Amino acid sequence: MAGNELHPTHRGRVLLRNTSTGREIPKAIELVAYRSAQEALTNITKHSQCDLVEIELCDARDVLTLEVRDNGAGISPDALDKPKAFGLRGLQERAKTVAGWLDVSSYDKRGTSIILSVPLPPGP
Ligand SMILES: Nc1ncnc2c1ncn2[C@@H]1O[C@H](COP(=O)(O)OP(=O)(O)OP(=O)(O)O)[C@@H](O)[C@H]1O
Ligand SMILES: [Mg+2]
Repeated sequence: MAGNELHPTHRGRVLLRNTSTGREIPKAIELVAYRSAQEALTNITKHSQCDLVEIELCDARDVLTLEVRDNGAGISPDALDKPKAFGLRGLQERAKTVAGWLDVSSYDKRGTSIILSVPLPPGP
């Protein structure tokens, strides 16, 4: 995926760093991770105006971690409270259904980072 554009209107680079071991991930967790990536990337194309997207997937220490970050506009504090914005709130709720959580951090003009963390059943 590295080097591809996200969307016809997106002109930046997308870098993928996958350090997961390929261990089996329960389907419910896989779906939560997929939906989180999808919404984070949709948000990036709609709101961020960035030129770099980095996606990291890791399953070390029995926690699945997915980070999607961009170097775009950042989220203003009031943007998170928009009554008609359901994307990030929905992801927070979805993460809880698999005992996980979502961290959203953003600095004005330095971009946004969305991190999903979900505990995995103990590995072999
Ligand atoms: N990557 C990002 N860069 C800049 N701003 C962002 C980013 N992601 C989200 N935002 C801001 O945070 C707000 C809330 O995001 P959220 O996904 O919850 O809602 P939305 O994308 O506006 O609407 P919905 O997801 O319900 O279609 C957005 O309206 C936008 O202002
Ligand atoms: Mg959204």
